[in-house]
Amino acid sequence: MNWLRALILPVEGSAHAREVDGLYLFLVWLTVFFFVFIAGLLGWFVWRYRQSRSKGGPTPYISHHTGLELVWSLVPLVILIVIFFWGFHGWVANGVAPNDAMEIQVTAKKWLWTFEYPDGTRSINSLHVPVGRPVKLVMSSEDVIHSFFLPDFRIKQDVLPNRYTELWFNPEVAGPHQVFCAEYCGKGHSDMLAKVFVDDEATYKKWLAEGDEELKKMPLPELGKLIYENRGCATCHSIDGTRGQGPSFKGIWGHEQKLADGKTIVVDANYVRESVLQPQAKVVLGFEPIMPTFQGLLREREILGVIEYLKTLK
Ligand code: CUA
Repeated sequence: MNWLRALILPVEGSAHAREVDGLYLFLVWLTVFFFVFIAGLLGWFVWRYRQSRSKGGPTPYISHHTGLELVWSLVPLVILIVIFFWGFHGWVANGVAPNDAMEIQVTAKKWLWTFEYPDGTRSINSLHVPVGRPVKLVMSSEDVIHSFFLPDFRIKQDVLPNRYTELWFNPEVAGPHQVFCAEYCGKGHSDMLAKVFVDDEATYKKWLAEGDEELKKMPLPELGKLIYENRGCATCHSIDGTRGQGPSFKGIWGHEQKLADGKTIVVDANYVRESVLQPQAKVVLGFEPIMPTFQGLLREREILGVIEYLKTLK
């Protein structure tokens, strides 16, 4: 029966996919069986009880048949109960991730997917996971409702603003596996695609250490904007000139800043770099020294990105 599975369903990427497929194929064959059975009986009755020209006469009066009615009520009942528990079993198993699952944060926004790994590595539109280890996705949206749909693993879950939704899978088959956005979210909806790469443990570690291809290719100011939005900078530093917990980034590039210790500095690349890595070194006058250090949390290129992004905030 594998030929039928291969014909109508995508790759089976996980044990859950196998269970879903099993039930699905059962439903297909059950439907085929009853279609042939009922259409066959229909045809046979038409032929068997046709009005014979030679005999003629009135159609016989047929009342009920208790035995037959019990059979055609109870047999479907049993079949439906089997289908219910089969589906319920898979649904429950798929609802709760195992305790040891690796947690990856998924953020959807018009029109891309970003993934954040336990060690802080980020990637855009490509999710790398080690083979054979359960992965739990904790998902939220920055704008409208999106939906994370991973057909090869037979899972789909809406991604909502202001709320977390979860999804988990245990990847067994090397990728890439296509991810779709399955909730219409605007003009770029059909381009909102991502890929899941299932790596062996060594390749996954190597990938974590080296970072994401998409991020490497991204122009510096865009990368900086992404860091600004996703690494917490935006909580304290506005980009429209309003005062927050920290100085606004609007128009500070190349301008002088008065410091708490009375000195004056010019905001240049070295000052920005130092303020990211050692925020307490030069605190701007009128602000508390509350910023945490980003030492070890940002790659060199990401710091450069932040610098280039600040230049764009005229
Ligand atoms: Cu995001 Cu459709």
